Amino acid sequence: MNKITIAIDGFSSTGKSTVAKQIAKELGYVYVDSGAMYRAVTLYAIKNGLISHDDFNVEALIYQLDKINLTFQFNESLGYAEVYLNGENVESKIRTLEVSGFVSQVAAVSEVRQKLVVIQKKLGEDKGVVMDGRDIGTVVFPNAALKIFMTASAEKRASRRYKELLERGDAITYEAVLENVTQRDRIDTTREDSPLVKAEDAIEIDNSELTLKEQFEKVLQLAKITIEGIE
Ligand code: CDP
Repeated sequence: MNKITIAIDGFSSTGKSTVAKQIAKELGYVYVDSGAMYRAVTLYAIKNGLISHDDFNVEALIYQLDKINLTFQFNESLGYAEVYLNGENVESKIRTLEVSGFVSQVAAVSEVRQKLVVIQKKLGEDKGVVMDGRDIGTVVFPNAALKIFMTASAEKRASRRYKELLERGDAITYEAVLENVTQRDRIDTTREDSPLVKAEDAIEIDNSELTLKEQFEKVLQLAKITIEGIE
């Protein structure tokens, strides 16, 4: 069976990674979370005092990019690859609201994007990959056989993310999560380099009223049709 590339883009907290993981598992494909890479670079910037609420030393971050080594390691029990920053598993540390608060600023830096897009293209070289992010269908894999663009109302997205963070034990409020979601949408859609836009040939799915199962079935059906179409 021919393997294809599946690009899933969309606004923050639309459940892209949930469906991408499910589809990858079902098809025996590799799942790549491109957002995790931007989050890991952001964690590096926070840890090294390069970004805070009143300052972002962009030049220093660009200068230190060579020191940032990102790798993925497949976790058998989770069923997907976890991200490592300079050898440390940072999968959990990159999901905090603190990292979410800075990540869109870091992701707007062209030099950061260039570095990560090279890694992402390489990971998808052999096809059989499901990658989610903001610019996967437009910049990373403009020739992807299937492109999905996920949307949902900001309130729905914020309440889903709020639940996730509560389950992790993070002390946060719904209002703070909603504020973060809308702020990131604004920065991600208005930045100069690779803004979040729906690729012309992407299929839009609004999952505000879809269950996880319905969303999975919808994307799986699209994937199967696409795979059959190219055989
Ligand atoms: O919170 P959510 O899962 O929706 O976001 P994410 O996929 O983890 O991505 C975090 C942030 O990284 C986004 O808000 C973007 O600023 C940035 N990002 C990007 O610029 N390009 C990508 N391909 C993926 C993420």
